[in-house]
Amino acid sequence: MLTLTVPLPGREYDILIQPGLLPQAGGYICSVLPGARKAALVTDSHVAPLYGEIVAHSLSLAGFQVETFVVPAGEESKCSDQLAKLWSGFARFGLTRTDCVVALGGGVVGDLAGFAAATMLRGVAFIQIPTTLLAQVDSSVGGKVAIDLPEGKNLAGAFYQPRLVLMDPTTLDTLPDETFADGMAEVIKYGCIADQSFLEFLGQHATRSAIMANIGHVLHTCCRIKAEVVAEDELDTGRRMILNFGHTLGHAYELAGHYRTYTHGQGVATGMVRAAELGISLGLTPAHLSGSIARLVSAFGLPTAIPCTQDDYAAAIGLDKKGAGSSISLILLDRPGHAVAYPMEKQQLLAML
Ligand SMILES: NC(=O)c1ccc[n+]([C@@H]2O[C@H](COP(=O)([O-])OP(=O)(O)OC[C@H]3O[C@@H](n4cnc5c(N)ncnc54)[C@H](O)[C@@H]3O)[C@@H](O)[C@H]2O)c1
Ligand SMILES: [Zn+2]
Repeated sequence: MLTLTVPLPGREYDILIQPGLLPQAGGYICSVLPGARKAALVTDSHVAPLYGEIVAHSLSLAGFQVETFVVPAGEESKCSDQLAKLWSGFARFGLTRTDCVVALGGGVVGDLAGFAAATMLRGVAFIQIPTTLLAQVDSSVGGKVAIDLPEGKNLAGAFYQPRLVLMDPTTLDTLPDETFADGMAEVIKYGCIADQSFLEFLGQHATRSAIMANIGHVLHTCCRIKAEVVAEDELDTGRRMILNFGHTLGHAYELAGHYRTYTHGQGVATGMVRAAELGISLGLTPAHLSGSIARLVSAFGLPTAIPCTQDDYAAAIGLDKKGAGSSISLILLDRPGHAVAYPMEKQQLLAML
């Protein structure tokens, strides 16, 4: 068992990583929430038939009364309709403030169920059991929970830390290659911004099977980096910005494909390559780094270039909004494994793009 503690004063919690953890989930949840009687298990329509019963059974064996809430798989479920259905379902189930909400699934389920838990009865204990690579290395750690609005992604949300995060890497075996690659974009990001030796390790293990053969090390390293950054800046006002490496430009590529043609990971992969190229033009980033990142993301089938208009770039850096400041802090690499916030005039950045 690999264990990590996210050291937030008064709200610290453990991340447990172990193959075969799912059937033991109930026991671990019971040990952090000895007073809880009911567990509202939230999952999606792809994950429910794969892992729902294993977790529900384990919760029952640990003494919980369990009800399972299944939302349709996909980003569309991170919406106010599904949130309201969960609230009503929890109320009919008789969930009290000493009970718990368990999120079993990818980032969509984690964000939605987490926001439901944060707001139900002004806060019900929340447990994350992430089942995608992205959710295991990114969305389940850090306490951001949210839903999307018709006006934009993640516009209604909260900071709400889970009480425990349980990761069973064997759940990744059932992920489609494209979804696995999406998570790899974030894994590569952690190497780029915070850990040169991890970046080199990824270069030496640049296939899905080599990553899976070392998945404990990969998950532990990524979660350690995210936990350290989050512990320094829980409410995202400073250092947490470095986690946006590749994301500002990645947003432009997601916009260019109207959020359909390119996945988030594909946008981030290209965004990291482009940010490294920009850093090289500015004399900040070592010359070889854009090529190394490009080789690494390509090895996982992620793109290194996406056609994008100036309008999409302008929208992604906020140049289209009246009253948004004229400068931006772009996250760039000053060496492999180290990121800095680099303030730039938006007009200058757009001209360089
Ligand atoms: N809270 C945060 O800090 C944070 C950080 C990054 C991303 N996010 C959010 O996370 C979401 C994306 O998460 P995601 O990429 O996990 O997407 P997702 O939850 O939609 O999962 C991707 C797909 O994989 C399926 N799936 C999940 N686990 C599976 C498994 N083990 N086997 C087979 N299929 C499985 C899902 O049903 C879905 O179809 C976005 O909404 C994003 O905004 C949040
Ligand atoms: Zn991301």
